[in-house]
Amino acid sequence: MNIVLVGFMGSGKSAVGKILAGRLNMRFIDLDSEIEKDLGLTITEIFKKNGEEYFRSVETRIIRLFSLLDNQVIATGGGVVLKDENITELKRTGCIFYLSATPETVYRRIKEEVHRPLLAGKKGDEALSEIKKILSFRREMYEKSGTEIKTDGQSSEEVAAEIEKHL
Ligand code: S3P
Repeated sequence: MNIVLVGFMGSGKSAVGKILAGRLNMRFIDLDSEIEKDLGLTITEIFKKNGEEYFRSVETRIIRLFSLLDNQVIATGGGVVLKDENITELKRTGCIFYLSATPETVYRRIKEEVHRPLLAGKKGDEALSEIKKILSFRREMYEKSGTEIKTDGQSSEEVAAEIEKHL
C-alpha cells in the first residue's frame, strides 16, 4: 500500500512525507521532483515555458506511473485534486491524507520561498488573498479526497505521528 499526502502548498506534504517514510521504512516520492527529473526542468521553468495545462498533463502521467508501485509515501503537488482522475488513480493503491492549514499558516510557511509559480510576484496581503482564493476554490476537493489532518500549530513530526495513528 502507498500513503499519499495531498494539500495546499506549504501544508507540509514533503517534510511530513520524508519523516513518515523514514519511520515506516517506505520509499519517499515527491511528485514535483519526479516531474522535474522527467523533464529536466524546474516546476517554475515548466510553467513559464509550457504553461499550467502542460504541467497538469505531465503530473497525471507521473501519477499513473507511481500508482503502479507499492510501499511508497507520496507527496503530491498542491493541484492534484483539480482532476478527479488523479485522485481515482492514487486511491487505487494508496490511502490518502489531506494535510490542511489555514491561509495564514500557509502564508507564514511559504512567504520566504520563490519556487511557487502560482504565487509568483505576489507579496504580503496580495499573496495572502491569492492563497485564500485558491484554497476556497479547492477546499472541498481536498476534503473529499481523504482523511483530514489539521497541521496548524503542529510540527512535521507531530503530523507524521498523527497519520501513523490512523494506519
Ligand atoms: C501547485 C503546487 C506545487 C506545484 C505547482 C502547482 C498547485 O506543489 O505542483 O507549483 O497548483 O498548488 P507544492 O504543493 O508542493 O508546492
